[in-house]
Amino acid sequence: MIIKHNVQLKPYNSFRTKALAKLFCEPATLDELIEVIRTHPHEEKLLLGGGFNLFFTKDFDGLVIKPAMEMVETVFEDEQQVEIEVGAGMEWDALVEHCVGRGYAGLENLSLIPSTVGACPVQNIGAYGAEVSEVITRVKAVNLKSGEVEVFSNEECRFGYRESLFKRHPHYAIASVTFRLSKSFTYREKYTDLNRELEGIPNPTLTQVREAVIRTRTRKLPDYHVLPNAGSFFKNPLLTREEKEELQKILPDAPIYNTGGGRFKTSAAYLIDKAGFKGQRRGQVGTYERHSLVVVNHGTEEGREIVSFAREIQQEVKKRFGVTLEPEVQIF
Ligand code: EPU
Repeated sequence: MIIKHNVQLKPYNSFRTKALAKLFCEPATLDELIEVIRTHPHEEKLLLGGGFNLFFTKDFDGLVIKPAMEMVETVFEDEQQVEIEVGAGMEWDALVEHCVGRGYAGLENLSLIPSTVGACPVQNIGAYGAEVSEVITRVKAVNLKSGEVEVFSNEECRFGYRESLFKRHPHYAIASVTFRLSKSFTYREKYTDLNRELEGIPNPTLTQVREAVIRTRTRKLPDYHVLPNAGSFFKNPLLTREEKEELQKILPDAPIYNTGGGRFKTSAAYLIDKAGFKGQRRGQVGTYERHSLVVVNHGTEEGREIVSFAREIQQEVKKRFGVTLEPEVQIF
């Protein structure tokens, strides 16, 4: 495997910010991944998927590893279910298409999410009422400190909303993910936008659901090839009952979803919108005109400009509504 020096990371993050990686490699097998970790014990390491949920503000003085394993193996199958183990480097939507094409249900609501299979458990990707944690049975990863392979059960992954063990303790290189999918499918109404898109179709098929998700996403979210971005910039805030009541005094129409356990989710997009930021621009950075939660890059290469715009949004939302917005995107 070739290890490259001084690699420009601009093409490897969908925000298109510039940064140099001292070392860069793309292991194509589990053995290559283990080898590069064991032969570089003292280098700081950064795992890169598609670079769709992160951007850089400075050069990276270490080893960037971009796993390139793309196998799909059936590890279990009966009449109702199938379990497939998939290499970390596979493009996420290629896997969704593969599964929908074979009639395997479970990933269709996550169509078109820019991600790779290895990155999907890290932030527990989710959309339209579904999260990938609902169908993951195992994650195989190499411990960056010991160089040993470890296998995590679903429970051990400690999944939460856009959270996991791998996000909290970033010293694992995910090599493969195992999904349990169903061979039968009945559409369940979970998310208003998607239900609306499927109106008039009595029992939508997997393909019809996938197509409806693709239409909804395409309408609302910018294509990073045209307008560089990293999807939702902030998480939807989780509030306590008291915080929720305070917010409702200021914004009685704010969307509130009871997530159980005394926590209430509100909409970051709504708060940013109400703070007057929708479609706003500071220099080369702004929010998307059709979705205020997406920060878009109109032409800068400097990650710091994005950070300073995001701070301005956070401060204004805090000042007006008392709510703290936490980035969903990872900043390096
Ligand atoms: N809204 C506004 N202004 C806007 C856009 C939305 O006020 O400009 C309000 C509306 O009230 C709307 C609500 O926000 O009903 C929710 O909007 P949307 O359905 O687009 O979902 P979201 O909460 O903003 C989340 C995920 C998205 C995912 C969508 C669809 C997070 C941080 N984001 O966004 O995920 O695609 O739901 O399920 O949870 C991502 O993570 O990068 C991502 C795009």
